[in-house]
Amino acid sequence: MSEAVTMEKIVSLCKRRGFIFQSSEIYGGLGSCWDYGPMGVQLKRNVKNAWWSTMVEERGDVVGLDCSIMMHPTVWQASGHIDSFSDPLVECKDCNQRWRADQLEKQECPACGGELTEARNFNLMFKTFMGAVEEDAAVVYLRPETAQGIFVNFQNVVSTSRKRLPLGIAQIGKSFRNEITPGNFTFRTREFEQMEMEFFVQPGTDEDWYEYWSHERFEWYKKLGIRAENLRMREHAKDELAHYAKACVDVEYLFPIGWSELEGIANRTDFDLKQHSAWSGKDLSYFDGTTNERYMPYVIEPSAGADRSTLAFLVDAYTEEEVEGASRVVLKLHPELAPVQVAILPLSKNERLVPLAKEVHDRVRKCFHTEYDDTQSIGRRYRRQDEIGTPLCVTVDFDSLEDGQVTIRDRDSLAQIRLPIDNLVDTLRAKLSGEGFGTDSLWAGARA
Ligand code: GAP
Repeated sequence: MSEAVTMEKIVSLCKRRGFIFQSSEIYGGLGSCWDYGPMGVQLKRNVKNAWWSTMVEERGDVVGLDCSIMMHPTVWQASGHIDSFSDPLVECKDCNQRWRADQLEKQECPACGGELTEARNFNLMFKTFMGAVEEDAAVVYLRPETAQGIFVNFQNVVSTSRKRLPLGIAQIGKSFRNEITPGNFTFRTREFEQMEMEFFVQPGTDEDWYEYWSHERFEWYKKLGIRAENLRMREHAKDELAHYAKACVDVEYLFPIGWSELEGIANRTDFDLKQHSAWSGKDLSYFDGTTNERYMPYVIEPSAGADRSTLAFLVDAYTEEEVEGASRVVLKLHPELAPVQVAILPLSKNERLVPLAKEVHDRVRKCFHTEYDDTQSIGRRYRRQDEIGTPLCVTVDFDSLEDGQVTIRDRDSLAQIRLPIDNLVDTLRAKLSGEGFGTDSLWAGARA
């Protein structure tokens, strides 16, 4: 039976197995900044690739974009971020710690009980200077959302992609927010990656598309293995809505810190395109050749966090269980997300085994994310592969030298089968594709 997953257990596993490290650790660390190690970078990349496949590659009505992080400063005036992208900040008069006023339960400092200042609005955008002179005219901002790069390129994309509306434009990239209270590991940081898609539609069809995308995005997390009971939808109340939104629903996940936002799906109306038309003087309306109408498109925006969803996938996969009297930690990651999909493990470092094991690895590595490991005992190596979430391990032993067969071990059921090396790639592919994952028929096929 799995114990409750705590954030401490996740942080510890991430450090122990090379998923996530504290940034600048040898200098004492930099608050709320994190570095992805060899396992973490692959996991996060797999999450982003899964999002890109679903949102762009498998559809005909969404195209991709990759914008610069720094944009013309007027973008942020037009978007409303300079005036409205702020949180109410209070400061303790005794210990000088700063807090978000809207997150406090009592009107006193949570650290020392001291008296707090009046709340003032604190703008969350990071400012810097472009060029050699630090003067007001050279101020630029690090983007707090990737969305604005999409809006200001709307016409470029429409006129070059030969697509009609409804049309989505998707982007994955870093965003920056000078959060007053970052924390809870990678849940809330000041530098993070977003996976955003702006779906431009004819006004009047926006509410149907809002329903459609809310459903699609919820299903995406389930398809990649998150348990349905740990997911829910929460509609924003009117007073919670961002300055640009007519409606917004969050996909929430039951993190160890409680139910929290994983992704927001917003109906941004025509707010952004209208604003950018007004501030730039360029008409961003769209002529619809099918209806002979010109209109300012409405926008439905599913906006997810790459770091936050990676954390959710880690938390949901984390399992502690008893196996034959021994406890094991296993990450039951979906095969599409696992940083290593197949590990090739010779029974030992014996010089007769290693050449065949390397030959098997060479065959398999062309098709999957693999790892070859011949250090330590086989038991310890299995333990490590379980903790990094490797769905399948292939063991090469002394019998393999005689019969040309190897053993596959299934991470979740711990079932083992032997099969000819010639059948290996096909069997691994079938298992990892999810078809029959863990079913008997597939194993019978492999045995034949
Ligand atoms: N363009 C809309 C937008 O940015 P948001 O709800 O502010 O909406 C979308 O952010 C997603 O980005 C969130 O659901 C979350 O996954 C991620 N995100 C936002 N702020 C974050 C932070 N400080 N650290 C990590 N992820 C964050």
